[in-house]
Amino acid sequence: MSEQSNLPATHGAHDNHGGEVDYATRDERGRYILPLEEHTPRITDIDPRAAKRAERQVAWLFTLGGACLAGGVAAYVAFDSRELISVPTIGRVSASNFWLGTLIGLGSFFIGAAAIHWARRLMPGEEAVDHRHPLRGDEQSRASAIEQFKRGAAESGFLSRPLVRRTMLGAMALFPLPLVVLLGDLGPSPKEKLRHTMWGDKRMTRIVNQGSGELVRPEDMAVGGLINAIPEGLERIQEETGTQNERAKSSIILVRMNPSEIKAQQGEGWDYEGILAYSKICTHVGCPISLYQQRTHALLCPCHQSTFDLSDAGRVVFGPAARHMPQLRLGVDAEGYLVALGDFAEPVGPSFWERG
Ligand code: FES
Repeated sequence: MSEQSNLPATHGAHDNHGGEVDYATRDERGRYILPLEEHTPRITDIDPRAAKRAERQVAWLFTLGGACLAGGVAAYVAFDSRELISVPTIGRVSASNFWLGTLIGLGSFFIGAAAIHWARRLMPGEEAVDHRHPLRGDEQSRASAIEQFKRGAAESGFLSRPLVRRTMLGAMALFPLPLVVLLGDLGPSPKEKLRHTMWGDKRMTRIVNQGSGELVRPEDMAVGGLINAIPEGLERIQEETGTQNERAKSSIILVRMNPSEIKAQQGEGWDYEGILAYSKICTHVGCPISLYQQRTHALLCPCHQSTFDLSDAGRVVFGPAARHMPQLRLGVDAEGYLVALGDFAEPVGPSFWERG
C-alpha cells in the first residue's frame, strides 16, 4: 500500500549534493518517496473465474514441466547411447543425449513459465514503498568513528614507530609477488614441450606392450586388435626424472586393420602392413583413450565422447575435440621388432594453446 497519499508533496526539493530532485516527494523524516502510479487491479484480482483459469494454467505448466523431466530420464534409459540420429544444423548426435537434453530444457522452461505466471497473475500485485535508511551517518557517529580511527592509529604505533611502519609497508609491497609467479604457470605456451616425446630421441625406437612388457612384433597383432604401448626405455627415463611426464606424452595405441581400409594417414605409408600407431592422449582435454570399435575404426574418448576415425588419419568425427589424434610413423628393425621411425606428426595432448 503506498504511503504517498498521506504525505505532503515537496517537488523541487534539493538532495544532499545540492541537486534538485523534482520527481520525488519526501516524508516528514526527509526520506525520498518515488511517486507511484495508482494501482490498477488485474483481471484476476476482480474476477474469481479468471483467477481460477490462471490457477489451472499454472497447474498445467507445472505438470508439463514435470512430464518433460520424467520423459528426459525415460528417453535416456530407453535409447541406446550408441544410437545416432540426424538433427538439423547440429548433425549426427546420440539419440539418448539429444532427448535427455531437449526434454530437460523444455521441463525447465515450463517450470519457469509456471512460476512467472503464478507470480504475475495470482500473487498480490500492489505497489509499495520500501524505505531505506540514509547511507550517510549523523554528525555524531561520524565524529566518533574518526576519533576511534585516530586513537587506533596512535595506539598501534603506526605513526610513532617508523621502523615498523616501513618494514611492514615493504613486506606488503612484496605480498603480490608469489601471485605473479603463480600466474607465470599460465604461460608460456606448452606447445613446444608437447611437441617433443621420447619417440623422437632416436631414429628407431622399439615399442613395448604396456600390459605384458614384451617388445611388439607385427605378427603379434591380429586384424582388428588393439595394444596399449610405450617406448622401450621409458622406465629408465621415469627413474631419471622422477616423474610420469614422459609416460603421459609417449603412451600410444596400436591398431591393426586391413590396409585396404586405410583412407588417409598423416604421412605417406606411415602404417606397417595395416598397423597404425596413434597417441593415447585425447586432443580435447587429455584423457587417455583406448575404447576402439573395430568395425568402424572409431576411437572413443570416455570423458566427453570425442570420436576419432583411425582409418582416416585420426580425424575427429564427433565431439568437442578440435584436432585429430597425432600419428607415429611405423616400421620394423633388422630383428623384426615393430619400431617408431620418429616423433609424432604434431604435438600430443590437449590443444587449448592453439586458441588465438
Ligand atoms: S578429453 Fe576426450 S573428449 Fe574430452
